[in-house]
Amino acid sequence: MSDSRRDADRNPGSGIRDPKGESDRDAGFGVRDLKIDDLIAAARAAREHARADYSHFSVGAALETADGTIVTGCNIENATYGLTVCAERVAIFKALSEGHREFRRMVVVAPPDAPTPPCGACRQVLWEFAGDLEIILANLNGETGRLRLGSLLPQPFDRRLLG
Ligand code: THU
Repeated sequence: MSDSRRDADRNPGSGIRDPKGESDRDAGFGVRDLKIDDLIAAARAAREHARADYSHFSVGAALETADGTIVTGCNIENATYGLTVCAERVAIFKALSEGHREFRRMVVVAPPDAPTPPCGACRQVLWEFAGDLEIILANLNGETGRLRLGSLLPQPFDRRLLG
């Protein structure tokens, strides 16, 4: 078993992919905001592919991996409604299926003016694979909020409880 796998087992859901505070890379040079803008642009572009035929509520997500790759997702609905998959889960499942294991942050673009955080199912799935991920919320005009997944899922069920 690899060290990172063992770490993940010891520290389930932590995915603390940012132990040195690397996600806060602004350092006064504006690097961080440039990158955030890239992520917002990627999430907006992904949103264009949403299959939101029933709700007409299109969402885009852009997940930044530890190696700087951006993996995007959009919501994909279904006539059964219940089989709908949110943009956030599409993005993380795509990333995992492509071999990515460490994640820095995710931008979610949704239409409302108010900050629109991930749904409960997405919180649980993101916690499992990305831990205390930074989440940047945005709409078509720009950023609407930033938070950490741990604040959205303060008492998570995760593998630690499985004994
Ligand atoms: N949706 C997302 O894709 N992400 C969210 O954070 C909230 C909701 C989708 C699911 C469904 O296709 C539509 O938005 C309305 O709920």
